[in-house]
Amino acid sequence: MSDEKAHKWIVKDPEEEIWWPSEELKKAAWVSDESIYEEAREDPVAFWEKHAEEGLDWVEKWSKPYDWDPPFMKWFLNGKINASYNCLDRHVKEGRGDKTALIWVPEPTEHDPQVISYEELYEKVQKFANVLKSLGVEKGDKVGIYLPMIPEAHIAMLACSRIGAPHSVVFSAFSPESLNVRLQDAEAKVLITADGYYRRGKKLDLKDDADEGVEGTGVENVIVVKRTGLDVNMVEGRDHWWHELMEDAEAECEPEVMDSEDLLFLLYTSGTTGKPKGVIHTTGGYLTQAYLTTKWVFNLHDDDVHWCTADIGWITGHTYTCYGPYLNCATTLIYEGAPDYPELNRMWQIVEKYDVTVFYTAPTLIRALKKGGDEWPEKHDLSSLRILGTVGEPIDREAWLWYLNKIGGGRCPIVDTWWQTETGGTLIMSLPGIGPFIPTVAGRNFPGTQHEVLDKEGNVLEEGEEGALVQMPPFAPGMLRGVYKNPERYEKTYWSRYDDKYYFTSDAARKTKHNCIRIGGRMDDVMQVAGHRLSTAEVEDAINRHEAVLESAVVPEPHEIKGEVPVAYTILRKGEESSEDMEKEIISHVGEVLGPTSKPARIIFVDELPKTRSGKIMRRILRSLLTDEELGDITTLKNPESVKTLEKITGYKGPG
Ligand code: WT7
Repeated sequence: MSDEKAHKWIVKDPEEEIWWPSEELKKAAWVSDESIYEEAREDPVAFWEKHAEEGLDWVEKWSKPYDWDPPFMKWFLNGKINASYNCLDRHVKEGRGDKTALIWVPEPTEHDPQVISYEELYEKVQKFANVLKSLGVEKGDKVGIYLPMIPEAHIAMLACSRIGAPHSVVFSAFSPESLNVRLQDAEAKVLITADGYYRRGKKLDLKDDADEGVEGTGVENVIVVKRTGLDVNMVEGRDHWWHELMEDAEAECEPEVMDSEDLLFLLYTSGTTGKPKGVIHTTGGYLTQAYLTTKWVFNLHDDDVHWCTADIGWITGHTYTCYGPYLNCATTLIYEGAPDYPELNRMWQIVEKYDVTVFYTAPTLIRALKKGGDEWPEKHDLSSLRILGTVGEPIDREAWLWYLNKIGGGRCPIVDTWWQTETGGTLIMSLPGIGPFIPTVAGRNFPGTQHEVLDKEGNVLEEGEEGALVQMPPFAPGMLRGVYKNPERYEKTYWSRYDDKYYFTSDAARKTKHNCIRIGGRMDDVMQVAGHRLSTAEVEDAINRHEAVLESAVVPEPHEIKGEVPVAYTILRKGEESSEDMEKEIISHVGEVLGPTSKPARIIFVDELPKTRSGKIMRRILRSLLTDEELGDITTLKNPESVKTLEKITGYKGPG
């Protein structure tokens, strides 16, 4: 595709740093009229009913659309539906079996990619569903999935949903111990894993970890995909090769009729305590939200190639690499390996080669690739791109603009999608055909949902004031239905703050002009500086705008007079020198951007920040380093060794 053919899909406001959809995009978008918001607000339940009915095939229609028995919600009560039927069967029956469902890109460049049609995926899913059945898996049994990003991951998920066996996916880079805790809690009967996977050119073993992870759990059978050919130990009677079981499997498997409120999957996520929570997602509501948000937020049409870079170990991987695209009969692309392997242009090379139109990733990756230099994306023709998405943490202005200009060629809207594991699908963003697209601002309520910014007492705050982001009733269909085996934790974490009236997101936010919402980060990251509410994200954004700065993380430090002051851990760009002068310069720069109260008390120059495996900076650790508090569990970090270095730099003494 040439540049002349590429879509010019946004226009900049001449006065402000705000972009709007072009006429061309408005014409091409599923929704482009602001009236959709008003229409949905008048009767949100009817709005969701309409899309559940139009977008999905139900075995039996619901008898009641919505029920709220605080703090428990239900959607499409007594409706009967099957997830895998909606992802596969109906498309094949409609004659769309030849359409490409999945493009799989392996990490080693010398390996062949796989292009799998809906017909082929349908066949494989049915067979694998029969494999599970032959091992005694019944409706309601839980299945653990501990797989890298290979087609079998999607096949396994869809096969589970076909027979009504809820899956519990555990990120393949998680430790055996993390796997063990999750398998125990979910009471999984079967584990699906692989002999290993490729990462940065190396074959990594996964089977040993899986073996350790199933010890002492209720897992009776382990199914192993052969990916690397590494020599692995197969336990007689317990372990089976995927390809051998598939050879003997029956071809046809009828989808199980599921109740709308039957468990579709569990997904574990960390909370404020050490033990992960099993977030409960049920069938009808989740599918409705996954279907509609994928369609509208990414403006998916028949010719799109949708690439969400998230691993299936995260909710983003569930909803936007798997369920959402398949429900829309779209083409989804997944990539096995590291984003910088063999070189920093791997992502852009994939975009060019497969004519990717929708690219959805996280700020952390955008910043990492930005750091790598402009020469990498510049090598590639990225004109197939139409929509760029971001998710997972607030994105700073510099990264946003780089994404817009260097990746999107200044042509593509950036949809900054706010949501959580708990919400099942995205809920706050700017719709491509409506806008606006503003750096650091997520956007508007998805139609049929309402989020507000409240103070501690539950009063709705004015535009510009920072407070707690809550969801108002009726709660979105894809919301979690509980914490597995722990209703008290569900109630305490999400509902107790506002007396079961509103869902508390734990995020700080403020309303901005154009009815948008700007996310300030988790509430535990909010500082109170001399009586002024200040979000760490805001100070970081200001610091990151300094030309010498690559990335920063701001945490509050207790202060005698001001209560708290912001302290910034900062990584400088290549070639920049840390010095007292640099520190002064950055501090005064923040003062200029945000005002004197926002100035960091000091800057701690570092080479690396402690991050979770999903790329989130662990501010809790950065805070504790300054206060000599317990650092807590650091084993789940992507780079636990960075903490040792930071202990030296900060002079951390530890508690006591
Ligand atoms: C938390 C949820 C939802 C998929 C990935 C993360 C933060 C998420 C945004 C965004 C600012 C965001 C919030 C939220 N977050 N998206 N667009 N802008 N912050 O899922 O691990 O459940 O984390 O991620 O703090 O509460 P998660």
